[in-house]
Amino acid sequence: MRIAVLASGRGSNLRALLDARAAGRLDAAFVGTFSDRPGAGALEIARAAGIPAHALPPRAYADRAAHDEALFSAVADVQPDLIVCAGYMRLIGDAAVARFAGRMINIHPSLLPAYRGLHTHQRALDDRVPVHGASVHYVTAALDGGPVIAQAEVAVRADDDAERLAARVLAREHRLLPACVALIADGRLRQLDDAVALDGTRLTRPLRL
Ligand code: GAR
Repeated sequence: MRIAVLASGRGSNLRALLDARAAGRLDAAFVGTFSDRPGAGALEIARAAGIPAHALPPRAYADRAAHDEALFSAVADVQPDLIVCAGYMRLIGDAAVARFAGRMINIHPSLLPAYRGLHTHQRALDDRVPVHGASVHYVTAALDGGPVIAQAEVAVRADDDAERLAARVLAREHRLLPACVALIADGRLRQLDDAVALDGTRLTRPLRL
């Protein structure tokens, strides 16, 4: 399976994917990493691993649609079977979502459908929820709203602040994302629920990983 990664930030989830491949837990080829931020740590991690790294800053394009078109044309050029959004922080337009329907997944730091969008850890703390976590889901036109493949739960502690909680969630993300990509790369996800990949309907019960 050919995988393209989209990332805006430090790239620890990309590193977790590469570590999983090195450890024999993920049978996949990483064919390109793409970022909207030229300084993203994820691009450095990709280059160090010999993976082509591309920066497409939005300011170089007339509008959001033009940036999306350039980005996803570059992604299409590497002929990925799967696009993994690993900390990609821009909204993805409907045209790109439709172009890669069922072939693009995202990791999000909450137990979806709770806390779509930003500042998920602080919002979970403000609500005093006992359990928080992370989700991997298919990307659809609904922000953080596509079918959830799997989730990891993290207990919230009385003395947590957003930073401490984020760190524990991130540690779980580093196991969750490679496990989900491996499910898809090995063709096992379709055995678990064909409907997820093929028609985009929501799993009745996301996997707990
Ligand atoms: C991760 O916590 C990921 O879940 C989150 O960004 C972080 C990226 O960290 N993604 C989102 O918030 C997407 N809306 P990383 O760059 O170290 O992988």
